[in-house]
Amino acid sequence: YGDANQKIDYVFKVVLIGDSAVGKSQILSRFARNEFSLDSKATIGVEFQTRTLVIQHKSVKAQIWDTAGQERYRAVTSAYYRGAVGAMLVYDITKRQTFDHIPRWLEELRSHADKNIVIILIGNKCDLESQRAVPTEDAKEFAEKEGLFFLETSALEATNVETAFLTVLTEIF
Ligand code: GTP
Ligand code: MG
Repeated sequence: YGDANQKIDYVFKVVLIGDSAVGKSQILSRFARNEFSLDSKATIGVEFQTRTLVIQHKSVKAQIWDTAGQERYRAVTSAYYRGAVGAMLVYDITKRQTFDHIPRWLEELRSHADKNIVIILIGNKCDLESQRAVPTEDAKEFAEKEGLFFLETSALEATNVETAFLTVLTEIF
């Protein structure tokens, strides 16, 4: 989890987007502090957390930005995407609507972010398999069509959270 005195070679800004309650803030909290909360409050405005990791012998400070999925609490869009080199597009595998909204999030992302931004589609809450409403195949197919990385994660069980961030950070690198 990083050494405060370590020399930083790169700072990479990564943004989290997706509908409210899909688990963006808990994915971030799992990655940055290895913490998870079941009574997470909706994000208002913008928050960010950082974690420094070593990738290919360089220290990389990942600066992860998190905003509200709810329109009324959202940050100024252009400022949120400015300088971002990675994006995590999150839906909830138990809520079909959150997956159906992904094309809209992708459109917003593509119209505001750098064209070379690395994007990963994330189906979160894969611990809730019995409530699954989005087949893995549907998401995989969409991701392939759009040229996105894809993983299913669980912030609760810490499944694939690390891998998801490493996939994006390594590709940026
Ligand atoms: P907004 O800030 O409103 O955009 O929501 P968000 O996407 O940040 O969602 P948040 O991280 O606050 O999580 C919403 C709810 O889902 C909380 O009750 C979390 O505890 C729960 N949650 C998040 N990730 C998981 C997960 O992997 N599994 C399960 N079972 N619950 C999760
Ligand atoms: Mg949040």
